[in-house]
Amino acid sequence: MKRILITGANKGIGLATVTKLLDSYDETFLLIGSRNLKKGQEARDSLVDNYPEWKNRLDLIQIDVEQDASVNSAAAEVRKKFNSESNPLFGIINNAGIGSSYGLGLEKILQVNTYGIKRVCDAFIPILNPSIGRIANVTSASGPIYLAGCREEVKKFLTNPAVTWIEIEDFMKEHLKDNSGSEQNNFQISGMSEAYGISKACANAYTICLARENPNLTINACTPGFIETDLTRPIAESNGKTPAEMGMKSPEEGTSASEFLLMGDPIGSGHYYGSDCVRSPLDRYRAPGDPPHS
Ligand SMILES: NC(=O)c1ccc[n+]([C@@H]2O[C@H](COP(=O)([O-])OP(=O)(O)OC[C@H]3O[C@@H](n4cnc5c(N)ncnc54)[C@H](OP(=O)(O)O)[C@@H]3O)[C@@H](O)[C@H]2O)c1
Repeated sequence: MKRILITGANKGIGLATVTKLLDSYDETFLLIGSRNLKKGQEARDSLVDNYPEWKNRLDLIQIDVEQDASVNSAAAEVRKKFNSESNPLFGIINNAGIGSSYGLGLEKILQVNTYGIKRVCDAFIPILNPSIGRIANVTSASGPIYLAGCREEVKKFLTNPAVTWIEIEDFMKEHLKDNSGSEQNNFQISGMSEAYGISKACANAYTICLARENPNLTINACTPGFIETDLTRPIAESNGKTPAEMGMKSPEEGTSASEFLLMGDPIGSGHYYGSDCVRSPLDRYRAPGDPPHS
């Protein structure tokens, strides 16, 4: 059995990915990560109602990626559930995330979208299969789009194969200082959509660092594409358009890249893939169908 944890799996792309993996791969067992137990239970119940045959291939794990204690107790719970195995997990899809349309501040966005991935990896890598384990970090094209507008030195820094977590964290702290207006520094935040881009560019950089530090695992990042969910519907509303008119696709269509990173044949580790499962650059947008980044 390939046991896979997906964070933020009670709705949206996360829930669609649970469904896709259970439907397409008989050998999978899915752990639905949900910060809210009730919402997670509802998601689990609806899957079992619709597909009773999946009943024994699903479990629910309460996990709030913003909280150290919640992430650590979720890892302890998984360890306990499968206590006969020292490395019970095959894969992790770090899907939980928040957008800027909720009007949340940079600190909150970084805590969920960037630190959240780090927390989950710190707690769960020790129980991941050490030779074939895989991680997919669901980031966003907003990362490369943000980086495309940065100075060359920032681009070099966040795409450096030797980048470390401490350096990434310092970069985020610089932005936080700037954002608070209390201290001068080199960075400028022009708007909250940029905050989302920063969080995803830093999550992509962390993917480089994590893959380098765990050479036996396959660790990559991807964008799901522009997908209609609770995260993006406000963007359509604020533009006075329908999600379809904005070019948004269905949550099911947003599962391809993370499915490919967990179950397909990605080349290498520490890379970023587009929603068409093609390797993409970290410092500029590559549209689906464009030539791969080498
Ligand atoms: N939709 C797009 O077009 C798009 C594009 C690029 C990237 N992405 C990325 O795709 C991922 C999934 O987004 P989505 O569009 O499916 O959004 P969504 O429908 O809003 O789902 C987000 C999920 O993350 C969970 N979450 C939020 N904060 C959390 C926390 N602190 N701890 C644990 N779970 C938390 C939410 O839980 P609750 O239900 O409790 O809020 C929900 O389950 C995100 O990382 C997002 O940045 C989406």
